[in-house]
Amino acid sequence: WGLAAGPAAAQPFPARPITVIVPFAAGGPTDTVTRLVAEAMGRDLGTTVVVENAGGAGGTIGAQKVAQSRPDGYTLLLHHIGMATAPTLYRRLAYDPVGGFETIGLVTEVPMTLVARKDFPANTLAEAIAVIRKQKERLNYANAGIGAASHLCGLLLMTAVDAPMTTVPFRGTGPAMQELLSGRVDLMCDQTTNTTEQINSGALKVFSVTTKERVAALPSIPTSAEAGLPAFEVTVWHGLYAPKGTPAEVTQRLSQALQAALRDPRLVARFAELGTAPVAQAMATPEAHHKFWLDDIAKWKPIIQAAGQYAD
Ligand code: MLT
Repeated sequence: WGLAAGPAAAQPFPARPITVIVPFAAGGPTDTVTRLVAEAMGRDLGTTVVVENAGGAGGTIGAQKVAQSRPDGYTLLLHHIGMATAPTLYRRLAYDPVGGFETIGLVTEVPMTLVARKDFPANTLAEAIAVIRKQKERLNYANAGIGAASHLCGLLLMTAVDAPMTTVPFRGTGPAMQELLSGRVDLMCDQTTNTTEQINSGALKVFSVTTKERVAALPSIPTSAEAGLPAFEVTVWHGLYAPKGTPAEVTQRLSQALQAALRDPRLVARFAELGTAPVAQAMATPEAHHKFWLDDIAKWKPIIQAAGQYAD
């Protein structure tokens, strides 16, 4: 008589590699942040954390993939402010953009920069606004789809200057950057994690940073307020999510690994070079992230409804 096999002893988590989905193309700012966080989390968790890009529809394609994954902690999503705007922008999603996820913790809040191809006919924000007001739809503004940070920043800009441009969507601002550098698009508002090195090498023009204070990695770039457009302010917060139903002990273990990653000196130094910094440790928890997220959904809802621009 064999011993009755008891329930398989729950294997300690993690027992195998973890995948983090980036809902934008490789080479963009979300991808850059995720690869740094994934590597550092892997060291704390003692497993490989693989990054997989699933771009499209302003980040909702990748978010849907995770919402519909097994809630076992082995498929995660690292996404940004788009998680606070999609619930209002997208009215027919095939997944629940809020109820489909467990929060693990906030990661970082990234400044944005208004950048242009290097021979754009302006050298200050005021001059760029004059060109936008004059050329309007003849200008091509690149973004990563409706709900992307680059889309929201463009919405704020075009509302503030009261002049629409032609929008050219990409699967991420990584690919969009290539078109800007080649001069095939004119302007883009993108995160410093993707623009700092191009700005410092002179490959792009930059007109302002969208933060209240100047960015240490870009000390000579004026804030939008200094440059005369105080309404043009937005920062891009990023968070880590698991599918709804992922056990609390798993999300708590992942939050511990995220907090350890955000203390990692190599990650902190690289974030600083790219114009950003990790959130405070207390914000890298499931509870703090969830509250921040719901507050931001409520903040953006009236702004989006007033603009009357929806994705579907
Ligand atoms: C990206 O990673 O490509 C960006 O986050 C896209 C965006 O939100 O503008």
